[in-house]
Amino acid sequence: MPGSRARTLTIVASLFGFGFLYGAAAADEQPSAEQAAQMMDDLMYGRGTVGGPFTLTDPAGKQRSDSEFRGRLMIVYFGYTFCPDVCPADLMAITQALDALGPAAEGVQPVFITVDPERDTKVLGEYVEAFHHSLVGLTGSPEEIRRVANSYKAFYAKVPDARGGGYSIDHTGVIYLMGRGGEYLGFMPPQTNPERLTEILRKYLDK
Ligand code: NI
Repeated sequence: MPGSRARTLTIVASLFGFGFLYGAAAADEQPSAEQAAQMMDDLMYGRGTVGGPFTLTDPAGKQRSDSEFRGRLMIVYFGYTFCPDVCPADLMAITQALDALGPAAEGVQPVFITVDPERDTKVLGEYVEAFHHSLVGLTGSPEEIRRVANSYKAFYAKVPDARGGGYSIDHTGVIYLMGRGGEYLGFMPPQTNPERLTEILRKYLDK
C-alpha cells in the first residue's frame, strides 16, 4: 500500500508533537494553538535557536538574503500592512529610534517581513517607505514566509472577519534584534517605547 509509509511517518510526527513539526515543516501549515503557545514559550525562555539564513523578495522583485546585512545590526519585524494598530505602532517606534540614533543608524538594518503575502504585494514598498527609508520590506511564497517565521519562533494565523470575506492576521509582534554576524541578540516586547529601543540599539552599536 503506497500511502502507508507516509501515514506512519505522519503518526510518528504527531506523537513527537510539535518540535518535529515546527522545526521541519516546510509547508505553510498554520500552527495549532498548542504549537503557537509552545513557540512563544520557547522564545520567551530562550529555548532553541532564533533566526537563521533566509532569502526573500523585496518590493522591487529582488532576492534579498540576511547575509547581505552582515556588519550591521539587523532588526526583524513580522507583520502586515493591513494591521490596524500594532504593526504601525511598533514600526513607528523603530523609525523614531533610528532617527534618534542619527548617523549611527546606518549601523542598523531594519527588515519588515510580511505575514500576508497575498495582499502585501505592491503596497508593501510604499508602506515601508512611509516609515523609514532604510526599512526593507520582504515577501515570499507562503511556504517561504512560514519557514522564516518558524525559524524566528514567530507565530501568525489568519482570522476571518465576522462579516464579509475579509480577514485579519493574528501575529507575534516582537522586535527581534540580530547582531553584526547574524547572531540572535534578543527580542523586545510589543509596544517597546522608542526611547528604550534607542537605548538598546546604542548599547549594541557601541560594542
Ligand atoms: Ni500587526
